[in-house]
Amino acid sequence: MSAPENTLRVPDSKLAHLDACLTGDVGYKKTTGLESWDFENQAAANISLDHINVETTLAGKKISAPIMIAPMTGGVARGHELNRMLFRAAEKWQLPVGVGSQRVALENAQRAAYFHIREDAPSTTVFANVGAGQFCKGWGVEEAKRAVDMIEADALYVHLNPIQEACQGGDVDFRNLTNALATICKGLKAMGIPVFAREVGFGLSEAAARTLIDCGVAGLDCAGAGGTSWAKVEALCAADPAYRKYGMMFGEWGIPTAEAIQNVRRASKDIPLVATGGIRNGLDVAKALALGADVASLARPMLQAADVGPEAVDQFITELVGGLKIAMFGIGAADLDGLKHTPLLIKNK
Ligand SMILES: Cc1cc2nc3c(=O)[nH]c(=O)nc-3n(C[C@H](O)[C@H](O)[C@H](O)COP(=O)(O)O)c2cc1C
Repeated sequence: MSAPENTLRVPDSKLAHLDACLTGDVGYKKTTGLESWDFENQAAANISLDHINVETTLAGKKISAPIMIAPMTGGVARGHELNRMLFRAAEKWQLPVGVGSQRVALENAQRAAYFHIREDAPSTTVFANVGAGQFCKGWGVEEAKRAVDMIEADALYVHLNPIQEACQGGDVDFRNLTNALATICKGLKAMGIPVFAREVGFGLSEAAARTLIDCGVAGLDCAGAGGTSWAKVEALCAADPAYRKYGMMFGEWGIPTAEAIQNVRRASKDIPLVATGGIRNGLDVAKALALGADVASLARPMLQAADVGPEAVDQFITELVGGLKIAMFGIGAADLDGLKHTPLLIKNK
């Protein structure tokens, strides 16, 4: 693919990311790998579609379905507006939701106002978000706690995005990663705040998952390839031609989501696992869970729906939950335990 023509030159990277994700060609050509799996139809189960139970828990709190609104934005007016819509939907549906990186608001108190959204989702599960790069550069438990307090979060996501950072000329010194992450996990655990580590869309290997688990994370998001390519997003946002090239060069880099889920499960049978990256409908959610995830999470499709309006978000979530339940109905799984332990997920190639 040649360098994108609609290169954005918006000064604020948060705004540029929103524009690129809403208007740019930022999807992987590579697929999630979920299409390589099919459920075997079960036509003779004693089951009612209307009695399928998809309730579960995440970060110690009950959620109504294993579906998350992935961390995306905040820190700018448009991001605040979109977050408010997504948070209201999360509250209505009792789904977990995250904010995008809070770095800008931790560095500049004025921007914190754009993260005041807890009032839109007073009771559902909310994740704060800080990049691992900031902790490697010296931020510690104090900054992590400030991020959590800023949005009255239930848990903290520490995002790992080395390839994205390298393709944007960002923070690329991760030599202190495991020490820094272990300190954050220990410090927040002592305050009763779970720390989850997450990729942003390039996927976790088994070795990476083991390393993160050894740091003491309370959960992981294996965010794999097959959905939004963060290298392509950076290519669209880059002003420097070299970084535009790097972004396109690494546009297909990453471990597909289906593999990333299995990688984490090889590292640990029971670490709470969110799967993001190319999840696009309720059947994808069902396959992600049958492969080993506890919750499936969506970013760009939620953003696109929010860009249309609250009814579109509501309709999209209705169809996600509906599609998940139909998949469970079709394999005779009345609850998530049945889905996660189904023998009916079969590799088709
Ligand atoms: C506009 C936008 C901004 C994002 N910003 C962040 C971020 O600040 N922190 C983070 O952990 N992930 C961020 N992500 C990554 C998503 O959470 C997700 O991992 C990735 O987009 C893959 O999911 P998808 O294929 O459903 O889009 C962002 C995604 C989008 C669409």
